[in-house]
Amino acid sequence: MNTIEQLSKAFDWRYATKKFDATKKISAETLTLLKDAMRKAPSSFGLQPYEVYLVESDEVKEKLSPACMNQPQITTASHLAIFVAKNEVSEDYVEKFTTLVRDERNFTEESWKNFDAFLKGVIASKGETVAGWTQRQAYISAGFLLLSAAGLEIDSCPMEGFNPEAVAEVLGVNFNEYTPVVMVALGHRSEEDATQHMPKVRVTEEKLIHTL
Ligand SMILES: Cc1cc2nc3c(=O)[nH]c(=O)nc-3n(C[C@H](O)[C@H](O)[C@H](O)COP(=O)(O)O)c2cc1C
Repeated sequence: MNTIEQLSKAFDWRYATKKFDATKKISAETLTLLKDAMRKAPSSFGLQPYEVYLVESDEVKEKLSPACMNQPQITTASHLAIFVAKNEVSEDYVEKFTTLVRDERNFTEESWKNFDAFLKGVIASKGETVAGWTQRQAYISAGFLLLSAAGLEIDSCPMEGFNPEAVAEVLGVNFNEYTPVVMVALGHRSEEDATQHMPKVRVTEEKLIHTL
């Protein structure tokens, strides 16, 4: 199979899995690649204003289940990647990031100061909308994870059907600082999951994509 065929196959192979085979776990090698996909996803300025909780403990999955409307994916998945986005982006957080960029890319002191001041200005101008912005960054990482998983024939389900505050409590995440926004359940589909046999429902290419 060439790369075009591989990618095209992944698009069709992936579906939002409703029930996983709980006996099948994701290998350590595959997990390493999936973690890399989340980490290397792009974000605005590269700021990555979110974190990911990767749940593999069955005990934690059981505790999460009622906070996720008892959806069967939670307790049958091999892993859950839960994306929590920052509610605010402090100047201190920006400075840690710009310092990292300076060190990794050998910025001069002057260009670092300019970059740092610029970025702090951009964040300040977002005001109340900053949480929406951090959350959008988290979704890009989740998207990278979904497609990477499909390419590796790992099944997945993106999920928003949960109570963010209750999920934060189970994870031990400070809800004043972070909001759980989306999770991706990962594993191997159960033969009993009827959804895998259903055709994909999508609008036509013409309706979705307007080529100018
Ligand atoms: C942001 C987001 C949240 C979703 N939340 C849930 C969910 O809580 N439970 C669920 O079973 N499916 C959930 N889905 C899956 C969608 O219903 C599914 O992707 C859509 O119906 C298209 O089907 P397909 O992914 O199988 O092609 C979610 C999808 C996205 C992108």
